[in-house]
Amino acid sequence: MEARKIKISKQLDLNRLPKHIAIIMDGNGRWATKRGLPRNMGHKAGCENLKRIIEHIYDLGISCATFYTFSTENWKRPQEEIDGIFNVVRDYLDEDGDSFVQKDARVVVSGDYSKLPQDLVDSISRIIQKTKNCKTFTLNLAINYGGRDEILRGVNSAIENGQKLDSTADFAKLLYNADLPEPDFVIRTSGEMRLSNFMLWQMAYSELYFTKIYWPSFTEKQLQKALIDFQKRKRRFGAL
Ligand code: IPE
Ligand code: IPE
Ligand code: MG
Repeated sequence: MEARKIKISKQLDLNRLPKHIAIIMDGNGRWATKRGLPRNMGHKAGCENLKRIIEHIYDLGISCATFYTFSTENWKRPQEEIDGIFNVVRDYLDEDGDSFVQKDARVVVSGDYSKLPQDLVDSISRIIQKTKNCKTFTLNLAINYGGRDEILRGVNSAIENGQKLDSTADFAKLLYNADLPEPDFVIRTSGEMRLSNFMLWQMAYSELYFTKIYWPSFTEKQLQKALIDFQKRKRRFGAL
């Protein structure tokens, strides 16, 4: 993680930040195409931006962030692109391992990462192991993640264990990283206004924010703008 001091807007109330911010990092391909570059350059730029935004989320004092990195549907893409995405993620985890520990940041994964290429599985296992006792921040990478797949796994696990679920809270314990709070704020970049199978269960009451900006161009300042928007919202959870 690189050190970059960013000014914090006076409009942003640091005492009312989300506990868990989740980001659907979309638009890497279009960012690259617009510049006459191959799509994989977009994923490289997207990963550089991921580092910057994680750093800023951490600096603001938000304690948990989930990033949608690779969906269960992204296997439909050309193999070359899939390999490109996995390579940038692997390099990131390998290079930044120590800085996570220094920052007391724990890395966890949502999704069946055992199905990824072995080198990436090894990198993921290493970083999870290395950061498992870190407490200040949790970085959750959603890789080979799909909301429906996650729910199906939960249902099957309950059936296999002969478990009768008495409440939605009981079911939530069967999801990936059930110790994390549900995301209170979800951002999607690139102008698409859909969930694309992201955290379907956990997002029941999340505040949603959409921006047209492609992920590699989404800056710390835009993150602050989104957070200011979040702070203007009245969350009712069905009550008055
Ligand atoms: C998001 O960018 C990254 C992944 C899905 C891995 P895209 O690759 O979807 O970029 P666009 O949407 O094609 O521009
Ligand atoms: C969602 O983006 C998945 C990730 C950001 C990892 P997609 O680009 O795959 O979503 P669709 O296909 O436009 O719905
Ligand atoms: Mg996309």
